[in-house]
Order: sequence, then C-alpha cells, then structure tokens
Amino acid sequence: MTSLTSDSVLEQLKSIRSPVTGGDIVSLCMVSDILIEEGKVVFSIKINPAQEKEMESVRQAAQEVVEKMPEVTSVLAVLTAEKKPSSPQQPVNDISKRPVAPQVKHIIAVASGKGGVGKSTIAANLALAFVEMGKKTGLLDADIYGASQPRMMGVRPRPDANEDDMVVPPTAHGLKVMSIGFFMDEISPVLWRGPMVHGAIQQLLRDIEWGDLDVLVIDMPPGTGDAHLSIVQNVLLSGVVIVSTPQDVALSEAKKGMMMFQKVNVPVLGLIENMSYHICSSCGHREDIFDHGKVRAAAQKMNIEFLGEIPLNSEVRAAADIGTPLVSAKKDHVISETFRNIASSVWTSLSAEKVGCPAEKSGCGGCCGQC
Ligand SMILES: Nc1ncnc2c1ncn2[C@@H]1O[C@H](COP(=O)(O)OP(=O)(O)OP(=O)(O)O)[C@@H](O)[C@H]1O
Ligand SMILES: [Mg+2]
Repeated sequence: MTSLTSDSVLEQLKSIRSPVTGGDIVSLCMVSDILIEEGKVVFSIKINPAQEKEMESVRQAAQEVVEKMPEVTSVLAVLTAEKKPSSPQQPVNDISKRPVAPQVKHIIAVASGKGGVGKSTIAANLALAFVEMGKKTGLLDADIYGASQPRMMGVRPRPDANEDDMVVPPTAHGLKVMSIGFFMDEISPVLWRGPMVHGAIQQLLRDIEWGDLDVLVIDMPPGTGDAHLSIVQNVLLSGVVIVSTPQDVALSEAKKGMMMFQKVNVPVLGLIENMSYHICSSCGHREDIFDHGKVRAAAQKMNIEFLGEIPLNSEVRAAADIGTPLVSAKKDHVISETFRNIASSVWTSLSAEKVGCPAEKSGCGGCCGQC
C-alpha cells in the first residue's frame, strides 16, 4: 500500500509559510486540487493575483518539499487565482502589453477545433521551415492534454534551469523546444480544473528563457478550452494559423476555433488543409479520403488567406514518429517544399500586417527596422 496520499502531501506542505500572512499554506486553505498518479504529484496554491511575485518563492518551496518525499517522481505546483479572467469580448491583442517573452518578435499559434487533424505535425514542420529561412525560432507545445513535441522533435530530457531559475529550452534541429510534456509525462490531465490549467500554462510561458527569437510557434491543444483562454490572455499572439481536414465535421469545429481568436482580436494568418488527399505510393491512384478542397473554399468565402494543402502521406507521419519532421528529414520532398511555402506566406503576413512589433506600439516610428 502506498503512503503517498493527499494527506501525506498536505502534511509536508504545512512547513511552508505565506510571506504575506505568516501562517502555513495548509491552514490558510491555500492548497487545493491535489492529484497523485504513480508518483507524480500536481497541486495548486491559490493566491491573490496581486501577490504573484512574492508567492513564487512559496510555490518553489512547496514543490521542493514534496519532491523530497520518498515515493515522489515528479511534482508540479501551480499558482492559481480565483479572480475571473477578463471578458474574452474585450480586445486583448495589444502586443505592447505582452507580459511574457517580450524579446520574442512574433508569437503565432497553430490551432484547430477538432483534435487529431495535424496541428502538432504542422507546427513542428512550420517551425523547422522558419529555421531554414534563417529565423531564430522556438516551438512551445502547450497541449496540456497530450504533449506531442518531445516525441516529434526527438527531445526527451527534462530541461535545466539557469541561475535565475528560468528553464532553458533544449535545442533540436536548430529549434528551441519546450513542452509541458517535459515536466508531466503521463499524468491524467483530464482531471485538471480550469484554474490549474491557467496556472500551468502561465508558468510554462513565464519561466522559460527563450532569449531573442524572431518567432515562437505554439502548438495548441484541440478545442477552445481553458488553455486557449489562458494563452490569448497571457501571450498576446501576433496571429493564428488554423488547421483543418476537408471533412465537414473538422471544418465546422475549425470555424468555431477561428471565431474564438477573432473575438479577442488575434489575426487569423491563414487556413491549411491537412490530409487533403492521398496518392497511393504503389499505383499513383489518388483518393480524397477526408474529402478535398473544402478548406480552400471556406477560406475564400471568409476572405482569409488559404496557405496550402498537405496530403495524407506516410512519410509525413513516419518522420514525425522518429523525431525528425519531414522538413528536416527530407529537405527535397515535395511536401517539405509546401511547408516552406506556407512558412514564407506566414512570414510575409506577419511582416505586412506589422503585427507583434512592440516598438511600433511604443511609437518608435520605424527606427528599429521591424515596423
Ligand atoms: N499530412 C499527414 N500525413 C500523414 N499523417 C499525418 C499527417 N498529418 C498528421 N498526421 C498524423 O496524424 C496523427 C495526428 O496528427 P497530430 O498529432 O499532428 O494532430 P493534432 O491535431 O496535433 O492532434 P491533437 O489534437 O491530439 O493534438 C499523427 O500520428 C500524425 O503523424
Ligand atoms: Mg497535437
């Protein structure tokens, strides 16, 4: 029988005191949502959002004390606020107010409505195409419900922290990669409550040492849930790329996802039709397995740029499975060329729309060369 229980975790956390009131965080009822799964522990510490800075040391101390428990293999403590997030109706995409990663010029999300349509595959290949274009690029896997990038990019180790306690992202194929999966492996995030998702995403965004980047690509979870809200509120995206397969059910979900971003003034940089068709590698017969062309038609109807179509192709899948996405594994492949064209169109939109230039908002008048 295991001795690792919520009670034993709480017992340890009684040693941690709040610097604000002086009492211990358990007696102050600040600890909640303790999840334990095979040695992995996640819990939240509820705080007044105005005291976030002071409470970071409490979070770290709480995490350390639980890490020392004999049966614990990994711990994630997140600070959560009961304060309701601001209304998504309000325009929030003012890049000059970006609270995280101010030295990153452009942050773009790759999103969809439906799951499994190829967001992670496209995010990985797009990011690698940016690297080929000579852009300093990062890839953040924000899929709290099933991180894919550690496998797709072939990076596993838990990243190190620097002397300022910032996490240094590992580099793979010339790209800085960070994923919630580095920290939490396989704990069941289905059980996570909304505030915990917000807390985890905020930490993921705030505590990473990206350095100077031209572009950071965020691989989003499916749907339009708490993680999305957290990202649009904390990141202030330069734009979003929407991925859909041509089938009706995926497209209608993609439109819902797109509307969520548009509501908060995040520019939609374009739509991609993934699994657009399939060419049999033996006989060359073409089959439109999930239908074909509906994403292009939808983009035209909505007056949004159509970025391109990616066929269903076993080499795309196999390259991602072995940790070297197609753009790096097979540079001459015709689909790698398509990914490069898509990356180039996205970059052109970012530059043309002048989205995401902090200097522009502060009224520099163009002297930085970015706006
Ligand atoms: N164009 C493609 N050709 C062949 N296989 C593909 C293609 N795009 C994606 N896949 C495969 O389909 C599966 C789902 O893709 P992926 O994980 O990128 O989707 P996702 O939208 O990120 O899923 P989730 O919503 O779960 O995050 C993976 O096994 C991937 O390798
Ligand atoms: Mg994914």
